[in-house]
Amino acid sequence: MSQRITRVAGPAAQACDMASSFMGEVVKLGAMGLIGEVIRIEGDIATIQVYEDTTGLMPGDPVERSGEEFSVELGPGLLGSIFDGVQRPLQALASGWGNFISRGAQIPRLDRSAKWEFQPKVTLGQMVNGGAELGHVRETELINHKIMVPHGVSGEVAKVFAGARTIAQPVAELADGTPLYMRQKWNIRKPRPVGKRLPSTRPLVTGQRVIDSLFPIALGGAGIIPGGFGSGKTVLEQTIAKHSEARIIVYIGCGERGNEMADTLEQLRELSDPATGRPLMERTILIANTSNMPVAAREASIYTGVTIAEYYRDMGYDVVALADSSSRWAEALREISSRMEEIPGEEGYPTYLAGRLGAFYERAGKVAVAGRPEESGSLTIIGAVSPPGGDFSEPVTQASLRMASTFWGLDSQLAYQRHFPAINWRTSFSLTHRAMSRWFTENVGEKWPEMIAKTQAILQREEELEEIAQIVGADSMEERERSALEAGRIIREGYLRQSAVHPVDVCCPLPRQLKTLETILGFIAAMDAAVGRGALLEDIITSPLVERLLRLKEAPPEGLDSLIESLREEYKTFFDSLEEK
Ligand SMILES: Nc1ncnc2c1ncn2[C@@H]1O[C@H](COP(=O)(O)OP(=O)(O)O)[C@@H](O)[C@H]1O
Ligand SMILES: [Mg+2]
Repeated sequence: MSQRITRVAGPAAQACDMASSFMGEVVKLGAMGLIGEVIRIEGDIATIQVYEDTTGLMPGDPVERSGEEFSVELGPGLLGSIFDGVQRPLQALASGWGNFISRGAQIPRLDRSAKWEFQPKVTLGQMVNGGAELGHVRETELINHKIMVPHGVSGEVAKVFAGARTIAQPVAELADGTPLYMRQKWNIRKPRPVGKRLPSTRPLVTGQRVIDSLFPIALGGAGIIPGGFGSGKTVLEQTIAKHSEARIIVYIGCGERGNEMADTLEQLRELSDPATGRPLMERTILIANTSNMPVAAREASIYTGVTIAEYYRDMGYDVVALADSSSRWAEALREISSRMEEIPGEEGYPTYLAGRLGAFYERAGKVAVAGRPEESGSLTIIGAVSPPGGDFSEPVTQASLRMASTFWGLDSQLAYQRHFPAINWRTSFSLTHRAMSRWFTENVGEKWPEMIAKTQAILQREEELEEIAQIVGADSMEERERSALEAGRIIREGYLRQSAVHPVDVCCPLPRQLKTLETILGFIAAMDAAVGRGALLEDIITSPLVERLLRLKEAPPEGLDSLIESLREEYKTFFDSLEEK
């Protein structure tokens, strides 16, 4: 073979005599066997994205073709793992190769020696197609892992091997002799097939009040979190990872600093599954491509993560994939593109930036599983976006905005005031909120939509009045208007604001959101009525009742109902006594 490197430019390389190669082919470069992927072919010249540091790689060095597409390995052993952007296990690398990934390191992605107790579901003579369930193994204490027939394979089951098996041993064999394993491969850039896309009519409950109440994300929806430095993107992504109702979590740390990734890992390791007390890592997969790791692998990391997420979706789970930060991914794309000397688009990003982002978010969805139409699963994708200087008009935020159905815009001003999550209720939106309103009515409460509309109206009124107050001064406002401003403050402080560290407040289940909001709105209505009848606002806001109302969200769940009941009685007595004056 005379395939040779002709040029090296950062994370990109070119090789000649590559006319018979194909897009996405895995190649090994140089004596060290650096891993790369063919991303362009022109005549007999191939451009290769190199997933490792290319220092020392020279024109003339050999190129070895694999004939295979760049893919991830899917099978038991994924959960609890930490991989780099091209699915090399970081724990294994850390123990065997030192803390840094040695270049050209050849390490299996999934453990070849671990044994899994295979419990078959198929029977001899059964006809199977891609996606059919062969059986399952218990991957962790929390999660059963369905072993599925790879897509594109079909036939009659001739042999089944129950019991302890490794992923290198077949668990079944088809009549034509095709062995079926617990592992399969999938090209990361190709969405896994689905049976059918299903409308998403329910939310992914996150336990964050401002999200679930005002800007809920659909189960299977796509959401973005744009925000300037320090506005709380990472904390919000971590909080959703820890407390949302998704069964499987894929966390993609993409181009952020290593210490942040270590912190995320620490947080996930510390926490246990609320229902069982088992470590959360038993249903989590981490993809870590920190800022000091090769940019080409960072570009691949979001696809690696989302492909693994789709695989668990195909088992019928509700999966959430969180990417922090998609802007760092876009920067990697920009760097590779510029090294390839492509014509740049806006702010140097390639012209296909929006297309790529769209293709990524489109992999979210609620679906009937391919090959098992009676089963459904979902993949919700949430991407943090870090616009330079917090300016949302830049290309990555704008392109993401068009793709996402839910937008949680973080506001530096709110973060500065320590109002977290710093989700700006004026700019944020959820396009699927309406489609989910029936679910909320049926599962949270008849009154819920009305309560939410009331809450939005209070915030809206506060905003209008604040503008007026700026002009005329709050002192010259009428009592009812000042009462409306106070109502806005109570909603913000007592409801929207939520601590990521307070043991109770950190996660607020929907039934509790209903009770809390009902109590708060009840108080506000009573306040408004009392002021309307001539009570002095001053007498109300100086009452310790307001403070207790604002702290309701921190009360332990045991005894919450009786606390709410006594609080309501007290404020009724209080407002009645005001009227008597
Ligand atoms: N929900 C929250 N509750 C309390 N503090 C928060 C919350 N969100 C963010 N913070 C504070 O803001 C800091 C910066 O948040 P971070 O998520 O790292 O910002 P970003 O990722 O946007 O740069 C955190 O270290 C924390 O002190
Ligand atoms: Mg961050």
